[in-house]
Amino acid sequence: EKGNYRHFMEKEIHDQPEGCQRTIAAYVDTLTTRTKIPGDIDFAKIDRIQIVACGTAYIAGLLGKYLIERMADLPVDVEVASEFRYREPALNAGSLAIAISQSGETADTLAAFRYCQAKGMQSAALVNTVESTIAREADVIWPIHCGPEIGVASTKAFTAQVAMLSALAVAAARQRGKIDEAEENRLVRVLLEAPRLIAESINLEEAVRAIAVDVSKARDVLYLGRGPMYPMALEGALKLKEISYIHAEGYAAGELKHGPIALVDEATPIVILAPFDSYFEKSASNMSEVMARGGQVVFITDPEGERNAPAGARVVVTAPKCDPLIAPLVFSAPIQLLAYHVAVQKGADVDQPRNLAKSVTVE
Ligand code: F6R
Repeated sequence: EKGNYRHFMEKEIHDQPEGCQRTIAAYVDTLTTRTKIPGDIDFAKIDRIQIVACGTAYIAGLLGKYLIERMADLPVDVEVASEFRYREPALNAGSLAIAISQSGETADTLAAFRYCQAKGMQSAALVNTVESTIAREADVIWPIHCGPEIGVASTKAFTAQVAMLSALAVAAARQRGKIDEAEENRLVRVLLEAPRLIAESINLEEAVRAIAVDVSKARDVLYLGRGPMYPMALEGALKLKEISYIHAEGYAAGELKHGPIALVDEATPIVILAPFDSYFEKSASNMSEVMARGGQVVFITDPEGERNAPAGARVVVTAPKCDPLIAPLVFSAPIQLLAYHVAVQKGADVDQPRNLAKSVTVE
């Protein structure tokens, strides 16, 4: 039940520290501070990972790609299942297929997953619903354990999927000899800190709500980010459009000059996601370009990023400082809360957005 919350989505946003805590507990050993990934998969032997998914689950997969490729030096392809299933993709039996699906019933994801299995690939299902079709048909089930998700817009399932993929990246890096045991221990401790830091970033709700009042008047909103904050920009835009009906687009910040900059004017809020990481300088310079054209920037960063913000940056949401491994988890709440409060401000039906269904079992 919703308890004291107005909507399931709001409750599920607030459930995320606990949801992620359960996910992480399933994939790390707290005594040895090592990862544990069920299934007979040798990450040192597989040549590639193919992720298939739709919507928010696809975006979780993109984050998995960024983490796994950088940390484990293992190629990962991610594709929306509806394209993948019909374009006759070239696959190798030595690769691992991962279907990501909250419901485990999405028709396109299931068909894409079956296509991989028919090519002889090992298959793993990253699902919330363990009794689902996708779970039943998989060689290995990786449950996310975040509890049932009722709101049509996915929130806690997304962060739980990303939490599992973060643990997977650490495990794959270790098995492939890219990190030593001490580094694995350190990264596991970072993962174990995530629930507390997610809770801290949920505490930014009041600041985000104030910003939402302005954003709710916009016709279009742009989200920009680099590195893992690029998929996060896609997720921010998807959440906003699906529940508030404001047109929103997520872009890799480096693409700004290649098109979207034409949209920048005083009436278009630009949400820039930029923790103080190795991409920060570049994102900050995109921010200056946007501000020079009168764009209203909503800058979501961390304390170090706030100190180093380009002159003129005004609307700032400061998430807690964290290791880059868990930045997507920590930056999720502000973008979800922004979409949520914009939708509430507009009087939209947050839990049942028009034209959308929780589980898409037809293609
Ligand atoms: C967005 C959203 C959808 C789902 C997509 C996949 O907030 O909820 O984009 O992520 O329909 O659903 P599952 O994960 O059940 O396969």
